[in-house]
Amino acid sequence: MGAVINLQIEMGKTFHIGLETLVAGKSPAAERSEFIAAVPKRGTFYLETFGCQMNDHDSEKVAGVLLSRGYRQVETIEAASFVLYNTCSIREKAAQKVFSRLGEFRDMPGEPKKIGVLGCVAQQEGEKIFNRSPWVNLVCGSASYSKLPELLTQLEAGETRVTGLDTDTDETFETEMTRRDNPWRAYLTIIEGCDKACSYCVVPFTRGPERSRASDSVLRELRQLAEIGYSEVQFLGQTVNSYRDPSAEKMEFSALLRAAAEMPGMKRVRFMTSHPRDFSADIVAAIEDDERICNHVHLPVQSGSTRILRVMQRTYSREEYLGKIAMMRGAKRPIAISTDIIVGFPGETDGDFAETLNLMEEVKYEAIFAFKYSPRPNTPAQKMEDAISEEEKSRRLGVLLELQRKIQTEANEKLIGQPFEVHVEGKSKKENQWSGRTSCNRVVNFLSTRSNLLGSYVAVRITGATPNCLTGEHAR
Ligand code: 5AD
Ligand code: SF4
Repeated sequence: MGAVINLQIEMGKTFHIGLETLVAGKSPAAERSEFIAAVPKRGTFYLETFGCQMNDHDSEKVAGVLLSRGYRQVETIEAASFVLYNTCSIREKAAQKVFSRLGEFRDMPGEPKKIGVLGCVAQQEGEKIFNRSPWVNLVCGSASYSKLPELLTQLEAGETRVTGLDTDTDETFETEMTRRDNPWRAYLTIIEGCDKACSYCVVPFTRGPERSRASDSVLRELRQLAEIGYSEVQFLGQTVNSYRDPSAEKMEFSALLRAAAEMPGMKRVRFMTSHPRDFSADIVAAIEDDERICNHVHLPVQSGSTRILRVMQRTYSREEYLGKIAMMRGAKRPIAISTDIIVGFPGETDGDFAETLNLMEEVKYEAIFAFKYSPRPNTPAQKMEDAISEEEKSRRLGVLLELQRKIQTEANEKLIGQPFEVHVEGKSKKENQWSGRTSCNRVVNFLSTRSNLLGSYVAVRITGATPNCLTGEHAR
């Protein structure tokens, strides 16, 4: 059950994987070859992913499902008999990208391909996709991925329009196999869907209700990941800290973090994204107590104005949010905090925006992801009045990013001279140049004359800083 693989690839090198690689986690060898022989040989698939890390990881699981049915993954559309797009609809631009991709098949020469649309646009647009792009054969939202094998069976039997669009589910997507792309950090979804009802957001519609995976199932997969050599895991969920163990164990989120960190072989446990409402002191205590739990928290604020937070239905005020920040800034171990901010929400005044800037100055985030508000179908905010012009949204975004640049420059310069442990993830073409991440999620490019550092943990002394990354040298 749950075979997982670790692809020891060099960064930047293209790779093809087949079933043999995929079942590398299965043992013994005889069982492996029996398994491979039993899988029918089907076509080839090309899978492209848009959107968040949840989508990236869903694609890793979808690829696992396809590979275990005998499909082979290829890297170009031309080489594929089955083309799948795992889509994002968080902002309008992301959703549009998918339709422009689908349009490319209108007059494509050669053998017709099977086309699948997965993810958030699939859920949002549903069967309308068939009207707009009649050459699409599969439309399936993430809440129906556990039905993918059934849907594939229908397609293989010759059906031309197959859908999985039910969101009223308590199922989580658990696969026999997952084909992980990142050889150093394994993503692991512990909670799917979202029950918060932020007035701007499509996710509650596209990903269905919140449903957590049983803690023993999470820890079982984590053990397999450790066994095949992963030392860093990132727990994923739209609201990861709203995790509620459905099993009799009733393990709290912070207890799950602690248990994961205790797993032999695990050196780093990350989690993303936290919702401020459910962000509690026991999570901070877990980070303080166990160095293997990464000292980085992504805690989206969205706005610094309590008035706007109320219309966004974020369920906390500016003051309550700042209380959570104070909890982290007062921790025994420094915790890096990043956030998401939306500018130009309907009715956002200059005063509201000034409160956001002022909150940023107060918190001094280590990183920010900022977005112009984009009205989304079915959301309450779509019907709100007092839209802010695109021009004004762009202006506010520019001001915000400039301020953050200043904050990050100052903060990063203070790190010069300090030592950090870096998990090495990449090697530059330039000689002796490596890159990796600190526990607090900072990117560090550093010099070392050693070979074979990929995947190892290296002591690096910081020698230089830019707003978005640090440079350093291997400390001996
Ligand atoms: N417009 C702009 N940004 C949005 N986000 C979510 N919905 C919207 C929208 N309609 C942002 C939020 C969220 C991040 C993943 O995307 O900041 O935290
Ligand atoms: Fe995009 Fe949100 Fe769906 Fe992720 S969950 S793919 S960010 S719409």
